[in-house]
Amino acid sequence: MPAPPIRLGVNIDHVATLRNARGGRHPDPVKAAAVAIAAGADGITAHLREDRRHIRDDDIARLKASIEKPLNLEMAATREMVEIARKTRPHAACLVPERRAERTTEGGLDAAGGGEPLRAAVAQLAEVGIRVSLFIAAEPVQIEAAVAIGAPVIEIHTGAWCEALAAANASAAATEFAHITRGAALAAGVGLEVHAGHGLDFASAEKIATLSEVIELNIGHFLVGEAMFEGLAGAVRKMRAAMDRGRAKIGSGAR
Ligand code: PXP
Repeated sequence: MPAPPIRLGVNIDHVATLRNARGGRHPDPVKAAAVAIAAGADGITAHLREDRRHIRDDDIARLKASIEKPLNLEMAATREMVEIARKTRPHAACLVPERRAERTTEGGLDAAGGGEPLRAAVAQLAEVGIRVSLFIAAEPVQIEAAVAIGAPVIEIHTGAWCEALAAANASAAATEFAHITRGAALAAGVGLEVHAGHGLDFASAEKIATLSEVIELNIGHFLVGEAMFEGLAGAVRKMRAAMDRGRAKIGSGAR
């Protein structure tokens, strides 16, 4: 059976970071979203943080009103954010930790320790048709908790793996990748849709695209950084090509 296609969600948070550095309107993350979509992004991701340090409420409203591809809203599972999401109705919401206490040691959301408040947030979002994912480490206990909480999707936190790659620590990177590989298989086996993200670049995106269970990558910081050198459209096109190369290796034994 051929592997399912892999989607690219472009996270435009750091376009807003740059805009906010001067306090004006330029560069506009909504324009960046349109450019990314024209260059091959399958969706746009934006994180409305409690402190509004990059994306602002108005950006979310404008994104929702103008982009032609699905909007994935990253958010903390707070009452305020759930209300905004229910009002905005993005296609998807990814629940992420914003405070130390909500995080596991790997940096993902502590779904296992999140209890009733997390379950309630998932239910309130799902009730209005938002597809909810949990940003978690590839740990069996977190994956099982995601199922118990009723989230249909998880996004595996790739930060530790990407850090090991950046530090050229081959053995730590291999350990982390094996961990992600096992987690993706476990999650898909229990019926979860599997996404991945955090810290990905061209090489790591190509590599993780070799995991057939992973059907979406959400990538931001690296793409916005690369945009300095070759433009956002060029960076998105190169990322799409890297992911397609990785996907093409499935079944060829060329991981
Ligand atoms: N996925 C999630 C859930 C995130 O919180 C982030 C960071 O905002 C990303 C993906 C993208 O990470 P990066 O900006 O390192 O590509």
